[in-house]
Amino acid sequence: MHSPVAFKFTNSLLIATLFLGLSPIGCKKKQVPQDTASGSAQTTSVGPIKIGEVGSMTGSEATFGTSTHNGIDLAIRQINAAGGVHGRMLELISLDDQGKPEEAATAVTKLITQNGVTAILGEVASSRSLAMAPIAQTHKVPMITPSSTNPKVTEQGDFIFRVCFIDPFQGTVMAKFALETLKIKKVAILRDIKNDYSVGLANYFAETFKKGGGEIVMDQSYGAGDIDFKSQLTSIRTKTPEAIFVPGYYTEVGLIARQARELGIKAPLMGGDGWDSPKLAEIGGKAIEGSYFSNHYSSEDQSPEIQTFIGKFKEAYGVVPDGLSAMGYDAARVLADAMTRAPSLDPQAIRDAIAATKDFAGVTGKITIDSNRNAVKAAVVLKVVGTQYKYQTTIQP
Ligand code: PHE
Repeated sequence: MHSPVAFKFTNSLLIATLFLGLSPIGCKKKQVPQDTASGSAQTTSVGPIKIGEVGSMTGSEATFGTSTHNGIDLAIRQINAAGGVHGRMLELISLDDQGKPEEAATAVTKLITQNGVTAILGEVASSRSLAMAPIAQTHKVPMITPSSTNPKVTEQGDFIFRVCFIDPFQGTVMAKFALETLKIKKVAILRDIKNDYSVGLANYFAETFKKGGGEIVMDQSYGAGDIDFKSQLTSIRTKTPEAIFVPGYYTEVGLIARQARELGIKAPLMGGDGWDSPKLAEIGGKAIEGSYFSNHYSSEDQSPEIQTFIGKFKEAYGVVPDGLSAMGYDAARVLADAMTRAPSLDPQAIRDAIAATKDFAGVTGKITIDSNRNAVKAAVVLKVVGTQYKYQTTIQP
């Protein structure tokens, strides 16, 4: 394992190589001949197996990309140290999409047609996975998103998978938590209309919340990249909601929390996995404390598998892994497990093996891929306390 400093260096080197258009670096590589074939998935039987990764390594969702990358990187290092897959090393080629769907589409095209990757890992954000999936599907290259939760992502085709739950479930989790645990009945929604995930999750939440006897007293929206939310929050304030459901990403959510408090709104905020970033508490400060969000994993879970993972991760990167890192780690291991079970590295064989994944012991829970290529898994609810995200409860599907 390398030191955090060494990793930072590797990471900036990675990003630098991308900007300079040089050949991307992978994980510990063996000096073996490179496959230079272009235009199709890698089918050569020598050399490393190339895995493509697309993530937001920079931009306002940079922690999504870098946290996921570290999880994937750790998994691949461990797999390679244990002998690789079919006796070959895995080589990770990571591209930064800067948090933009168009860049994600370009990156996946490049990975497939120029790098000849065997499979794709990514993206985190549903809007970007939705831009990538039709391309992976057309080229018949298996793609696993670690953490995109919008149902439409895996509907793009039979080569598209995810190792996380989907938003109809996540919306239900937070609606039930509001009704049954917080015992509240009046909630306002503030959704990001530029974000497929946010729009979907807001709808799923509202549906279950209303069915359970709750009322959505106001439904407002913003667009990713906005910095002033005062007019929406002023309207919301007139309805005195008991909580505000803000299913967005951490940068805007942190700012929304601050502006809500400035306007004298004391109600807690609630949200989904898009809050999961160390930056949320940094941006939101005191304003975000006491708020709740659903997530894929809690680092407080004492199970030996999770604590071993956390220990190894800290050794490598110097921080406790967030949910994104855990999901990245699981996605890479599910892929490697499927490749190992597949009779060959033919894309169809890998696809079939991913589809057959059953009871895989992930750090984010047991992973079984269902007939819609989704994983059915429990969610946790976390509460922001200081700069920590404290475990509240686990909700089973
Ligand atoms: N689920 C979010 C989406 O689909 C992405 C996300 C997952 C963000 C996990 C943070 C943590 O857009």
